[in-house]
Amino acid sequence: MAPAQVEETPSKTVQELPKNYIYKGGDAGTLGASLPYIDIPTIDFSLLSSPTSGKQELEKLCSALTSWGCVQIINHGIDPAFMDKVDEVGKQFFGLPVEEKKKYARENGGYEGYSNHIIDSKDQAFDWIDRLYLVTKPEDKRQLKLWPENPQSFREILHEYTAKIEKLNEMLLKAIARALTLEENCFLDMYGEDASMLSIFNLYPPCPRPDLAIGLKPHADASVFTYLMQDKEVEGLQFQKDDQWYKVPVIPGAFVINVGDQIEIMSNGIFKSPIHRVVTNTEKGRMSLVMFCFPNPNKEIEPVKGLVTETRPRLYKTMKDYTSILVENYQKGRRPIEAAKI
Ligand code: OGA
Ligand code: NI
Repeated sequence: MAPAQVEETPSKTVQELPKNYIYKGGDAGTLGASLPYIDIPTIDFSLLSSPTSGKQELEKLCSALTSWGCVQIINHGIDPAFMDKVDEVGKQFFGLPVEEKKKYARENGGYEGYSNHIIDSKDQAFDWIDRLYLVTKPEDKRQLKLWPENPQSFREILHEYTAKIEKLNEMLLKAIARALTLEENCFLDMYGEDASMLSIFNLYPPCPRPDLAIGLKPHADASVFTYLMQDKEVEGLQFQKDDQWYKVPVIPGAFVINVGDQIEIMSNGIFKSPIHRVVTNTEKGRMSLVMFCFPNPNKEIEPVKGLVTETRPRLYKTMKDYTSILVENYQKGRRPIEAAKI
């Protein structure tokens, strides 16, 4: 198949915004607005399994995931020096000449590889973004031809990073079970072995009109959990709560973790998958790396037994292959989670 057209997101040299980048969503009016910071706790991940201080930290975690659907975590065991390496290989890749990056261009009909927009729809503005999508798990689903060989350490670092996030995800799935006083493996067992992981490097170049263009349109993630390594210096991510937008501060070395639709389902709606978006700025490019964790598409998920009670009836159907439901509904402009509700 021929590679999809990759025109780089116009940047730096562009003074006026190309028309197809003018965003007209309902939230467009708040793009350039000055907004409050989100009020979420920073969780010390190393305390979650501590016999003495664990309980309090678990309560903090649970309360943030219940009210906001997201937290920042520190002391997660992933070495800051390694995170810097991950950041560096991503930035080196985006810094390559377009011709070199195009070797890894997304193919028509696929979604993996390098591209700047995924949904080709006449009536939707393009996001002000360049992306590199790569499935990293299961390993036999890796499309290595789309994994950059330049910088040279890219593949090895992404492989190592995947293993570290996978471990973190397991620990988090156990922690939320303990926080809800459920059997420790109830979420992890439903998540299952042979799960999928998708990593996306996002580059938001400086934008001449951050009040008119959007970095990433409002959406919720279809994952179980999403692990975001933010840019160490540049803000841009915002979460919505009660129709208000809140900025996420940068905490170097921390991960932003948000609830995805599939944990909303498994938790029978106790944890809500939050709507978020990314805005741009005129001065500085921003790079982030997201890692989505999904159950294997053949695995059924549903609210865990302990969270369905007489006072809290079951709210979601048994689902399987949630990401294909995402695509179907996205094209119709609907949130896929609506399709999962009873
Ligand atoms: C995403 C996402 C946030 C960011 O890729 O789904 O929400 O800060 N990214 O890039
Ligand atoms: Ni997202």
